[in-house]
Amino acid sequence: MNELFRLALDLPPQASSVARHIDYLHYTVIGAAFLVAFLAFLVTVSFLVRFRERPGYTPRARSVPHSLEVVLASFTLVVFIVWWVIGFSQYRDIHRPPPGAIRIYVIAKQWMWQFVYPNGTNSEADLRVPVGQPVEVMITSRDVIHSFYVPAFRLKQDAVPGRITSLWFTAVTPGTYDILCAEYCGAGHSRMRGRVIAMAPSDYARWVGSHVAPDLAESGGKLAAAYGCLRCHTIDGTAYIGPTWRGLYGSRVVLTTGEIVTADDAYLTESMMDPGVKLVVGFQPVMPSYLGMLSGAEAAAIVEYIRSLGATEAAP
Ligand code: CUA
Repeated sequence: MNELFRLALDLPPQASSVARHIDYLHYTVIGAAFLVAFLAFLVTVSFLVRFRERPGYTPRARSVPHSLEVVLASFTLVVFIVWWVIGFSQYRDIHRPPPGAIRIYVIAKQWMWQFVYPNGTNSEADLRVPVGQPVEVMITSRDVIHSFYVPAFRLKQDAVPGRITSLWFTAVTPGTYDILCAEYCGAGHSRMRGRVIAMAPSDYARWVGSHVAPDLAESGGKLAAAYGCLRCHTIDGTAYIGPTWRGLYGSRVVLTTGEIVTADDAYLTESMMDPGVKLVVGFQPVMPSYLGMLSGAEAAAIVEYIRSLGATEAAP
C-alpha cells in the first residue's frame, strides 16, 4: 500500500527511519484534500441540477439547522488538530536524537557542503553514514542561509550563519541519496548538491578510520588557545572574565534578562558569533564577536572541546 502510493506520487525511496511516517501524514493530507474536493464537486453538480431555473419552479430561502453547522465545523477543527498533533510530534522526534547518536557537523557555504566527523575527518559533497545507526547532523553556514535537504530521508533543515541547527536520522537502506540546497542562496544554488552515502557499519568504520585527522575536541582546544578564548574562560571551573567552560555544556545558565537557557550547541555557537545577545548574569559584555573569524568547522571544534570538558546532559 505504502509502496503503491509512493510510486503513484513519484516520490524518492524511503531511505530513513522517519521517511515512512512523514509519507503517511503526507498521503493522509493529500487524500483528505482530494476527498473534500470531490465531495464539493458532487454537491455543486447536484445543486446545479436541483435548483436550476425552470418553468413552474420558484426558489425559496432555506436555512441549514444550526446544529449541523456546529457539527461540521467541529469535525473539521478536530481533523486539523489531529494532523497538527501528528505533525508536531514528528517535528519533535527529528530534533531529539537518541543517546549515542553519531554527531556529524554539516557546514554549508556558497556553493558546497562540508562534513566534519567526530574523529576530525572531513569530507566535501559526500556525507558518509553507517546504515542502522542514528546520526545527528549539526548544521551551520559560513555565509548566507542555505537549507540541508535530503529528499529520500524526507528531511530538510535551514543552515543559518552563526547558529547551529540540528536533526537526526537513521539511514535504513545502503545506497546513495541526493543532498540538495532548498534555500535560494545565489547564482550557484542549483549546483549546490551533495550525496549521502549510506554504508554498512563496518565499511563506514573502515572509511572513517582510514582518514585519520586530529580529534575534533582536541583541535578545538588548540583553536580556543589560538583565538584567545582561554584568556577569559577557564577550563578548571573557576569564573574569570567569562564563565568557565568546565561543566558548561548542557547546563542551565541564567541570563541578565532573568531567562534561563540550556548551554547547548546552538547557544554556544550564538555566543561566539553574537555574544551580546544572551549575556550570563554576573559578567560584563566584553566579549568580541567571532563572526567571520571562526569558520563553521572551527566553531564546531570549539563546541566539541567545551563538551569534552564535562557535559551536563540535562534533558531540555
Ligand atoms: Cu545553498 Cu541554495
